[in-house]
Amino acid sequence: RLPMSTTSTDREQWSSQIGFVLAAAGSAIGLGNIWRFPYLAGEGGGGAFVLIYLLCILFIGMPYLFGELSLGRNSQKNPVGAIKSITGGGSAWIVVGGFCVLAGFVILSYYSVVAGWAVGYAVKDVLAPTMGFEAFAASPWLNVGLVAFFLLLTLLVVVGGVEKGIERWAKILLPVLFVLILLVIVRAVTLDGAAEGLRFYLVPDFSEITFDLVIAALGQAFFTLSLGMGAMITYGSYLPKREDIAMSGGYVVLFNTMIALMAGFMIFPALFAMGADPATGPALVFVVLPEVFAQMPLGGIVEFLFFLLLSIAALTSSISLLEVVVSYFVDEKNWSRRKSVLIIGVITFLMALPSALSFGAVGAFSDLSYLFGEGGLFGQNNVLGVLDYLIGSAGLAVGAFFLSVFIGWVWGADRAADELRQGSSTLADGFLGVWIFGMRYIIPVVVFGIVMGYLTGTL
Ligand code: PHE
Repeated sequence: RLPMSTTSTDREQWSSQIGFVLAAAGSAIGLGNIWRFPYLAGEGGGGAFVLIYLLCILFIGMPYLFGELSLGRNSQKNPVGAIKSITGGGSAWIVVGGFCVLAGFVILSYYSVVAGWAVGYAVKDVLAPTMGFEAFAASPWLNVGLVAFFLLLTLLVVVGGVEKGIERWAKILLPVLFVLILLVIVRAVTLDGAAEGLRFYLVPDFSEITFDLVIAALGQAFFTLSLGMGAMITYGSYLPKREDIAMSGGYVVLFNTMIALMAGFMIFPALFAMGADPATGPALVFVVLPEVFAQMPLGGIVEFLFFLLLSIAALTSSISLLEVVVSYFVDEKNWSRRKSVLIIGVITFLMALPSALSFGAVGAFSDLSYLFGEGGLFGQNNVLGVLDYLIGSAGLAVGAFFLSVFIGWVWGADRAADELRQGSSTLADGFLGVWIFGMRYIIPVVVFGIVMGYLTGTL
Protein backbone atom coordinates (compact mmCIF):
# COMPACT_ATOMS: atom_id res chain seq x y z
CA ARG A 1 0.00 0.00 0.00
CA LEU A 2 1.20 3.49 -0.82
CA PRO A 3 1.86 5.90 2.03
CA MET A 4 -1.11 8.16 2.84
CA SER A 5 0.24 11.23 1.24
CA THR A 6 1.23 10.18 -2.24
CA THR A 7 -2.17 10.37 -3.87
CA SER A 8 -4.78 12.92 -3.10
CA THR A 9 -7.61 10.37 -3.05
CA ASP A 10 -5.95 8.76 -0.03
CA ARG A 11 -5.97 12.03 1.85
CA GLU A 12 -8.11 12.07 4.94
CA GLN A 13 -11.32 14.10 4.91
CA TRP A 14 -13.89 15.36 7.38
CA SER A 15 -16.70 12.84 7.62
CA SER A 16 -19.54 15.37 7.52
CA GLN A 17 -20.38 19.03 7.32
CA ILE A 18 -21.08 19.21 11.03
CA GLY A 19 -17.77 17.49 11.73
CA PHE A 20 -15.90 20.13 9.76
CA VAL A 21 -17.88 23.01 11.25
CA LEU A 22 -17.17 21.85 14.79
CA ALA A 23 -13.49 21.21 14.12
CA ALA A 24 -13.01 24.62 12.49
CA ALA A 25 -15.11 26.33 15.14
CA GLY A 26 -12.95 24.52 17.68
CA SER A 27 -9.87 26.02 16.07
CA ALA A 28 -11.41 29.47 16.10
CA ILE A 29 -12.83 29.28 19.62
CA GLY A 30 -10.00 29.43 22.11
CA LEU A 31 -8.00 31.67 24.38
CA GLY A 32 -8.77 34.36 21.81
CA ASN A 33 -12.45 34.37 22.72
CA ILE A 34 -12.32 33.89 26.46
CA TRP A 35 -9.01 35.43 27.50
CA ARG A 36 -8.08 37.96 24.80
CA PHE A 37 -11.46 39.31 23.66
CA PRO A 38 -12.67 40.26 27.17
CA TYR A 39 -9.47 42.04 28.12
CA LEU A 40 -9.34 43.93 24.82
CA ALA A 41 -13.00 44.90 25.21
CA GLY A 42 -12.30 45.88 28.81
CA GLU A 43 -9.45 48.14 27.71
CA GLY A 44 -11.31 49.44 24.68
CA GLY A 45 -14.23 50.89 26.58
CA GLY A 46 -16.56 47.89 26.34
CA GLY A 47 -19.42 48.28 23.88
CA ALA A 48 -17.44 50.45 21.47
CA PHE A 49 -14.85 47.73 21.01
CA VAL A 50 -17.53 45.06 20.69
CA LEU A 51 -19.29 46.98 17.93
CA ILE A 52 -16.15 47.57 15.84
CA TYR A 53 -15.03 43.99 16.41
CA LEU A 54 -18.34 42.66 15.07
CA LEU A 55 -18.05 44.82 11.95
CA CYS A 56 -14.47 43.59 11.38
CA ILE A 57 -15.56 39.96 11.69
CA LEU A 58 -18.45 40.39 9.29
CA PHE A 59 -16.83 42.49 6.57
CA ILE A 60 -13.17 41.45 6.69
CA GLY A 61 -12.66 38.27 8.71
CA MET A 62 -15.47 36.20 7.25
CA PRO A 63 -14.83 36.90 3.54
CA TYR A 64 -11.11 36.37 4.04
CA LEU A 65 -11.86 33.08 5.83
CA PHE A 66 -13.72 31.91 2.71
CA GLY A 67 -10.52 32.68 0.75
CA GLU A 68 -8.27 30.56 2.98
CA LEU A 69 -10.74 27.68 3.03
CA SER A 70 -11.13 27.70 -0.75
CA LEU A 71 -7.35 27.72 -1.32
CA GLY A 72 -7.04 24.73 0.99
CA ARG A 73 -9.80 22.72 -0.62
CA ASN A 74 -8.62 23.53 -4.12
CA SER A 75 -5.12 22.26 -3.47
CA GLN A 76 -5.90 19.55 -0.88
CA LYS A 77 -2.61 20.48 0.73
CA ASN A 78 -0.88 22.14 3.68
CA PRO A 79 -0.07 25.88 3.25
CA VAL A 80 3.28 25.27 1.53
CA GLY A 81 1.81 22.62 -0.76
CA ALA A 82 -1.18 24.85 -1.49
CA ILE A 83 1.02 27.67 -2.70
CA LYS A 84 3.20 25.28 -4.71
CA SER A 85 0.13 23.81 -6.35
CA ILE A 86 -0.69 27.24 -7.79
CA THR A 87 2.76 28.66 -8.56
CA GLY A 88 4.77 25.48 -9.08
CA GLY A 89 7.94 24.92 -7.04
CA GLY A 90 10.66 27.54 -6.88
CA SER A 91 8.37 30.55 -6.50
CA ALA A 92 9.17 33.16 -3.85
CA TRP A 93 5.56 32.84 -2.64
CA ILE A 94 6.54 29.58 -0.97
CA VAL A 95 8.17 31.70 1.71
CA VAL A 96 4.65 32.72 2.77
CA GLY A 97 3.75 29.03 3.17
CA GLY A 98 6.94 28.54 5.15
CA PHE A 99 5.94 31.41 7.40
CA CYS A 100 2.64 29.62 8.11
CA VAL A 101 4.40 26.46 9.25
CA LEU A 102 6.86 28.41 11.36
CA ALA A 103 4.05 30.45 12.90
CA GLY A 104 2.26 27.21 13.77
CA PHE A 105 5.31 26.09 15.74
CA VAL A 106 5.84 29.42 17.47
CA ILE A 107 2.22 30.20 18.35
CA LEU A 108 1.70 26.65 19.63
CA SER A 109 4.78 27.00 21.84
CA TYR A 110 3.58 30.04 23.78
CA TYR A 111 -0.16 29.32 23.45
CA SER A 112 0.51 26.10 25.38
CA VAL A 113 1.97 28.13 28.23
CA VAL A 114 -1.18 30.21 28.68
CA ALA A 115 -3.29 27.08 28.16
CA GLY A 116 -1.18 25.40 30.85
CA TRP A 117 -2.11 28.23 33.23
CA ALA A 118 -5.78 27.55 32.48
CA VAL A 119 -5.29 23.87 33.29
CA GLY A 120 -3.35 24.76 36.44
CA TYR A 121 -6.01 27.22 37.59
CA ALA A 122 -8.77 24.64 37.11
CA VAL A 123 -7.07 22.46 39.73
CA LYS A 124 -5.40 25.24 41.67
CA ASP A 125 -7.38 24.60 44.83
CA VAL A 126 -5.63 21.24 45.03
CA LEU A 127 -2.35 22.20 43.39
CA ALA A 128 -1.44 25.48 45.06
CA PRO A 129 -4.45 26.96 46.86
CA THR A 130 -2.81 30.03 48.36
CA MET A 131 -0.51 30.97 45.50
CA GLY A 132 -1.11 34.30 43.75
CA PHE A 133 -0.80 34.65 39.98
CA GLU A 134 2.70 36.13 40.09
CA ALA A 135 4.12 33.30 42.13
CA PHE A 136 2.24 30.78 40.03
CA ALA A 137 3.57 32.15 36.72
CA ALA A 138 7.09 32.35 38.15
CA SER A 139 7.21 28.75 39.31
CA PRO A 140 9.49 26.84 36.92
CA TRP A 141 8.33 23.30 37.64
CA LEU A 142 4.64 24.13 37.68
CA ASN A 143 4.91 25.84 34.31
CA VAL A 144 7.08 23.24 32.65
CA GLY A 145 4.87 20.46 33.95
CA LEU A 146 1.66 22.14 32.81
CA VAL A 147 3.05 22.90 29.34
CA ALA A 148 4.18 19.29 28.98
CA PHE A 149 0.76 18.06 30.07
CA PHE A 150 -1.16 20.36 27.74
CA LEU A 151 1.09 19.61 24.76
CA LEU A 152 0.72 15.90 25.41
CA LEU A 153 -3.08 16.21 25.20
CA THR A 154 -2.71 18.10 21.93
CA LEU A 155 -0.38 15.44 20.50
CA LEU A 156 -2.70 12.63 21.54
CA VAL A 157 -5.63 14.16 19.68
CA VAL A 158 -3.67 15.00 16.53
CA VAL A 159 -2.01 11.61 16.28
CA GLY A 160 -5.52 10.15 15.88
CA GLY A 161 -5.82 11.94 12.54
CA VAL A 162 -8.39 14.20 10.95
CA GLU A 163 -11.56 12.23 11.46
CA LYS A 164 -10.77 9.95 14.40
CA GLY A 165 -8.74 12.53 16.29
CA ILE A 166 -9.56 16.17 15.54
CA GLU A 167 -13.15 15.80 14.39
CA ARG A 168 -14.13 13.29 17.06
CA TRP A 169 -12.75 15.36 19.91
CA ALA A 170 -14.22 18.59 18.59
CA LYS A 171 -17.63 16.93 18.52
CA ILE A 172 -17.26 16.00 22.18
CA LEU A 173 -15.49 19.05 23.57
CA LEU A 174 -17.40 21.88 21.89
CA PRO A 175 -20.83 20.96 23.26
CA VAL A 176 -19.28 20.53 26.73
CA LEU A 177 -17.70 23.96 26.42
CA PHE A 178 -21.05 25.47 25.45
CA VAL A 179 -22.86 24.01 28.45
CA LEU A 180 -20.11 25.09 30.86
CA ILE A 181 -20.25 28.65 29.55
CA LEU A 182 -24.01 28.75 29.99
CA LEU A 183 -23.64 27.62 33.61
CA VAL A 184 -21.13 30.34 34.37
CA ILE A 185 -23.26 32.99 32.62
CA VAL A 186 -26.30 32.09 34.72
CA ARG A 187 -24.24 32.64 37.87
CA ALA A 188 -22.70 35.88 36.61
CA VAL A 189 -25.84 37.66 35.42
CA THR A 190 -27.77 36.83 38.59
CA LEU A 191 -25.26 38.62 40.82
CA ASP A 192 -26.37 41.88 42.43
CA GLY A 193 -25.02 44.74 40.39
CA ALA A 194 -24.60 42.73 37.19
CA ALA A 195 -26.63 45.24 35.18
CA GLU A 196 -23.93 47.86 35.20
CA GLY A 197 -21.49 45.37 33.70
CA LEU A 198 -23.97 44.51 30.99
CA ARG A 199 -24.39 48.18 30.17
CA PHE A 200 -20.60 48.71 29.91
CA TYR A 201 -20.35 45.68 27.67
CA LEU A 202 -23.31 46.29 25.39
CA VAL A 203 -23.86 50.03 25.06
CA PRO A 204 -21.19 51.58 22.85
CA ASP A 205 -19.72 54.93 23.81
CA PHE A 206 -18.80 56.29 20.39
CA SER A 207 -16.25 58.71 21.78
CA GLU A 208 -14.08 55.67 22.64
CA ILE A 209 -13.59 54.76 18.97
CA THR A 210 -10.03 55.58 17.93
CA PHE A 211 -7.66 54.39 15.20
CA ASP A 212 -5.88 52.17 17.74
CA LEU A 213 -9.15 50.60 18.79
CA VAL A 214 -10.00 49.77 15.16
CA ILE A 215 -6.55 48.20 14.62
CA ALA A 216 -6.89 46.14 17.80
CA ALA A 217 -10.37 44.99 16.79
CA LEU A 218 -9.18 43.96 13.32
CA GLY A 219 -6.18 42.12 14.74
CA GLN A 220 -8.49 40.33 17.15
CA ALA A 221 -10.80 39.37 14.27
CA PHE A 222 -7.88 37.59 12.57
CA PHE A 223 -6.56 35.96 15.71
CA THR A 224 -9.92 34.69 16.85
CA LEU A 225 -10.83 33.19 13.46
CA SER A 226 -7.40 31.48 13.25
CA LEU A 227 -6.51 33.46 10.13
CA GLY A 228 -3.21 34.58 8.64
CA MET A 229 -1.15 31.45 9.26
CA GLY A 230 -2.81 28.78 7.18
CA ALA A 231 -4.80 26.93 9.86
CA MET A 232 -7.92 27.44 7.77
CA ILE A 233 -6.06 26.52 4.57
CA THR A 234 -5.13 23.26 6.27
CA TYR A 235 -8.63 22.58 7.63
CA GLY A 236 -10.07 23.50 4.21
CA SER A 237 -7.77 20.94 2.60
CA TYR A 238 -9.71 18.14 4.28
CA LEU A 239 -13.04 19.38 2.89
CA PRO A 240 -14.77 17.25 0.28
CA LYS A 241 -15.82 18.97 -2.94
CA ARG A 242 -19.48 18.41 -2.12
CA GLU A 243 -19.38 20.74 0.90
CA ASP A 244 -20.57 24.30 0.74
CA ILE A 245 -17.57 26.37 1.92
CA ALA A 246 -19.41 29.63 2.46
CA MET A 247 -22.24 28.03 4.37
CA SER A 248 -19.93 25.99 6.61
CA GLY A 249 -17.57 28.94 7.05
CA GLY A 250 -20.57 31.09 7.94
CA TYR A 251 -21.48 28.69 10.74
CA VAL A 252 -17.90 28.75 12.02
CA VAL A 253 -18.04 32.54 12.20
CA LEU A 254 -21.44 32.42 13.86
CA PHE A 255 -20.36 29.96 16.57
CA ASN A 256 -17.09 31.75 17.17
CA THR A 257 -18.84 35.10 17.54
CA MET A 258 -21.45 33.59 19.85
CA ILE A 259 -18.80 32.20 22.17
CA ALA A 260 -16.86 35.47 22.28
CA LEU A 261 -20.04 37.39 23.09
CA MET A 262 -20.97 34.80 25.70
CA ALA A 263 -17.52 35.16 27.27
CA GLY A 264 -18.33 38.82 27.77
CA PHE A 265 -21.60 37.85 29.43
CA MET A 266 -19.66 35.66 31.85
CA ILE A 267 -17.01 38.19 32.69
CA PHE A 268 -18.32 41.77 32.69
CA PRO A 269 -21.32 41.32 34.99
CA ALA A 270 -19.08 39.50 37.49
CA LEU A 271 -16.36 42.18 37.27
CA PHE A 272 -18.76 45.04 37.87
CA ALA A 273 -20.77 43.25 40.52
CA MET A 274 -17.57 42.78 42.51
CA GLY A 275 -16.20 46.22 41.75
CA ALA A 276 -13.15 45.10 39.75
CA ASP A 277 -11.48 47.11 36.98
CA PRO A 278 -12.26 45.83 33.46
CA ALA A 279 -9.16 47.48 31.96
CA THR A 280 -6.62 45.20 33.61
CA GLY A 281 -5.11 43.80 30.41
CA PRO A 282 -3.83 40.25 29.83
CA ALA A 283 -3.95 39.41 33.55
CA LEU A 284 -7.72 39.94 33.57
CA VAL A 285 -8.91 36.33 33.64
CA PHE A 286 -6.04 35.02 35.78
CA VAL A 287 -5.76 37.80 38.34
CA VAL A 288 -9.09 39.56 38.51
CA LEU A 289 -11.51 36.71 37.95
CA PRO A 290 -10.20 34.48 40.76
CA GLU A 291 -10.64 37.43 43.12
CA VAL A 292 -14.15 37.87 41.83
CA PHE A 293 -14.88 34.15 42.20
CA ALA A 294 -13.55 34.18 45.74
CA GLN A 295 -16.16 36.73 46.81
CA MET A 296 -19.05 35.17 45.05
CA PRO A 297 -21.48 32.52 46.34
CA LEU A 298 -20.67 29.17 44.69
CA GLY A 299 -17.43 30.81 43.53
CA GLY A 300 -15.29 27.72 43.97
CA ILE A 301 -17.39 25.67 41.58
CA VAL A 302 -17.72 28.51 39.11
CA GLU A 303 -13.96 28.99 39.14
CA PHE A 304 -13.36 25.32 38.42
CA LEU A 305 -15.91 25.32 35.58
CA PHE A 306 -14.49 28.50 34.11
CA PHE A 307 -10.89 27.31 33.92
CA LEU A 308 -11.97 23.90 32.73
CA LEU A 309 -13.85 25.47 29.85
CA LEU A 310 -10.90 27.74 29.10
CA SER A 311 -8.63 24.67 28.92
CA ILE A 312 -11.03 22.87 26.60
CA ALA A 313 -11.33 25.86 24.32
CA ALA A 314 -7.53 26.16 24.19
CA LEU A 315 -7.15 22.48 23.36
CA THR A 316 -9.39 22.55 20.29
CA SER A 317 -7.30 25.50 19.03
CA SER A 318 -3.86 24.10 19.81
CA ILE A 319 -4.87 21.02 17.83
CA SER A 320 -5.24 23.16 14.73
CA LEU A 321 -1.90 24.89 15.29
CA LEU A 322 -0.17 21.52 15.48
CA GLU A 323 -2.10 20.20 12.48
CA VAL A 324 -0.69 22.97 10.24
CA VAL A 325 2.83 21.77 11.00
CA VAL A 326 1.97 18.07 10.88
CA SER A 327 0.22 18.37 7.52
CA TYR A 328 3.33 20.04 6.11
CA PHE A 329 5.61 17.15 7.10
CA VAL A 330 3.05 14.54 6.03
CA ASP A 331 2.41 16.13 2.61
CA GLU A 332 5.80 17.51 1.72
CA LYS A 333 8.26 15.23 3.49
CA ASN A 334 6.23 12.03 3.35
CA TRP A 335 6.58 11.48 7.06
CA SER A 336 3.93 9.37 8.76
CA ARG A 337 1.49 11.22 10.99
CA ARG A 338 2.84 9.41 14.04
CA LYS A 339 6.44 10.35 13.33
CA SER A 340 5.51 13.98 12.56
CA VAL A 341 3.51 14.37 15.76
CA LEU A 342 6.28 12.87 17.85
CA ILE A 343 9.14 14.92 16.43
CA ILE A 344 7.18 18.18 16.25
CA GLY A 345 5.89 17.59 19.76
CA VAL A 346 9.39 17.31 21.19
CA ILE A 347 10.63 20.38 19.30
CA THR A 348 7.59 22.42 20.34
CA PHE A 349 8.10 21.46 23.96
CA LEU A 350 11.71 22.66 23.82
CA MET A 351 10.61 25.85 22.08
CA ALA A 352 7.95 26.40 24.74
CA LEU A 353 10.48 26.41 27.59
CA PRO A 354 11.68 30.00 27.19
CA SER A 355 8.06 31.22 27.17
CA ALA A 356 7.13 29.01 30.10
CA LEU A 357 10.06 30.40 32.09
CA SER A 358 9.54 34.03 31.09
CA PHE A 359 7.45 35.21 34.03
CA GLY A 360 10.18 35.37 36.60
CA ALA A 361 11.48 31.80 36.59
CA VAL A 362 14.54 32.64 34.48
CA GLY A 363 15.72 36.22 34.48
CA ALA A 364 17.17 36.17 30.97
CA PHE A 365 13.76 35.18 29.52
CA SER A 366 11.69 37.36 31.82
CA ASP A 367 13.37 40.69 31.26
CA LEU A 368 14.63 41.30 27.74
CA SER A 369 15.75 44.85 28.34
CA TYR A 370 19.33 43.74 27.59
CA LEU A 371 18.09 43.18 24.02
CA PHE A 372 15.41 45.80 23.50
CA GLY A 373 16.13 48.43 26.13
CA GLU A 374 13.91 49.49 29.00
CA GLY A 375 10.83 50.09 26.85
CA GLY A 376 10.94 46.54 25.47
CA LEU A 377 10.00 45.60 21.93
CA PHE A 378 6.72 47.41 21.25
CA GLY A 379 6.21 47.43 24.99
CA GLN A 380 6.80 43.68 25.42
CA ASN A 381 9.63 42.69 27.66
CA ASN A 382 9.48 38.93 28.16
CA VAL A 383 9.76 36.05 25.72
CA LEU A 384 6.07 35.17 25.69
CA GLY A 385 5.00 38.77 25.18
CA VAL A 386 7.49 39.36 22.38
CA LEU A 387 6.51 36.17 20.53
CA ASP A 388 2.82 36.95 20.87
CA TYR A 389 3.40 40.42 19.51
CA LEU A 390 5.76 39.46 16.68
CA ILE A 391 4.04 36.27 15.50
CA GLY A 392 0.58 36.11 17.08
CA SER A 393 -0.38 39.72 16.41
CA ALA A 394 1.78 41.50 13.83
CA GLY A 395 2.80 38.20 12.19
CA LEU A 396 -0.78 37.11 11.57
CA ALA A 397 -1.53 40.47 9.98
CA VAL A 398 1.51 40.20 7.72
CA GLY A 399 0.58 36.60 6.88
CA ALA A 400 -3.01 37.58 6.11
CA PHE A 401 -1.80 40.45 3.92
CA PHE A 402 0.39 38.23 1.75
CA LEU A 403 -2.15 35.42 1.65
CA SER A 404 -4.92 37.81 0.62
CA VAL A 405 -2.75 39.18 -2.20
CA PHE A 406 -1.89 35.62 -3.15
CA ILE A 407 -5.53 34.52 -3.23
CA GLY A 408 -6.84 37.73 -4.80
CA TRP A 409 -4.17 38.23 -7.46
CA VAL A 410 -1.76 35.32 -7.92
CA TRP A 411 -4.24 32.50 -7.77
CA GLY A 412 -7.02 34.93 -8.72
CA ALA A 413 -10.18 35.81 -6.82
CA ASP A 414 -12.27 34.63 -9.78
CA ARG A 415 -10.73 31.16 -9.56
CA ALA A 416 -11.21 31.16 -5.81
CA ALA A 417 -14.84 32.06 -6.48
CA ASP A 418 -15.16 29.02 -8.76
CA GLU A 419 -13.97 26.90 -5.84
CA LEU A 420 -16.57 28.55 -3.60
CA ARG A 421 -19.27 27.79 -6.16
CA GLN A 422 -18.54 24.05 -6.01
CA GLY A 423 -20.80 22.31 -3.57
CA SER A 424 -22.75 25.48 -3.03
CA SER A 425 -26.39 25.89 -3.80
CA THR A 426 -26.81 29.08 -1.88
CA LEU A 427 -24.30 31.51 -3.36
CA ALA A 428 -25.88 33.87 -5.81
CA ASP A 429 -23.42 35.05 -8.45
CA GLY A 430 -24.06 38.61 -7.43
CA PHE A 431 -22.71 37.84 -3.98
CA LEU A 432 -19.61 36.25 -5.47
CA GLY A 433 -19.06 39.36 -7.56
CA VAL A 434 -18.94 41.45 -4.42
CA TRP A 435 -16.70 38.86 -2.75
CA ILE A 436 -14.21 38.95 -5.65
CA PHE A 437 -14.00 42.72 -5.45
CA GLY A 438 -13.52 42.57 -1.68
CA MET A 439 -10.84 39.89 -1.88
CA ARG A 440 -8.86 41.86 -4.48
CA TYR A 441 -9.14 45.42 -3.26
CA ILE A 442 -10.69 45.89 0.13
CA ILE A 443 -9.15 43.09 2.19
CA PRO A 444 -5.49 43.56 1.15
CA VAL A 445 -5.74 47.33 1.66
CA VAL A 446 -7.41 47.09 5.06
CA VAL A 447 -5.04 44.38 6.24
CA PHE A 448 -2.10 46.47 5.09
CA GLY A 449 -3.49 49.14 7.40
CA ILE A 450 -3.30 46.75 10.37
CA VAL A 451 0.25 45.78 9.46
CA MET A 452 1.22 49.43 9.46
CA GLY A 453 -0.56 49.94 12.77
CA TYR A 454 1.47 47.13 14.32
CA LEU A 455 4.75 48.21 12.81
CA THR A 456 4.46 51.78 13.92
CA GLY A 457 4.08 50.25 17.36
CA THR A 458 1.13 52.22 18.58
CA LEU A 459 -0.29 49.01 20.03
N1 PHE B 1 -8.27 31.24 17.10
C1 PHE B 1 -7.54 30.78 18.25
C2 PHE B 1 -8.09 31.48 19.48
O1 PHE B 1 -8.94 32.34 19.37
C3 PHE B 1 -6.06 31.03 18.13
C4 PHE B 1 -5.45 30.56 16.86
C5 PHE B 1 -4.82 31.46 16.03
C6 PHE B 1 -5.52 29.22 16.48
C7 PHE B 1 -4.26 31.07 14.82
C8 PHE B 1 -4.98 28.81 15.27
C9 PHE B 1 -4.35 29.72 14.46
O2 PHE B 1 -7.70 31.18 20.57
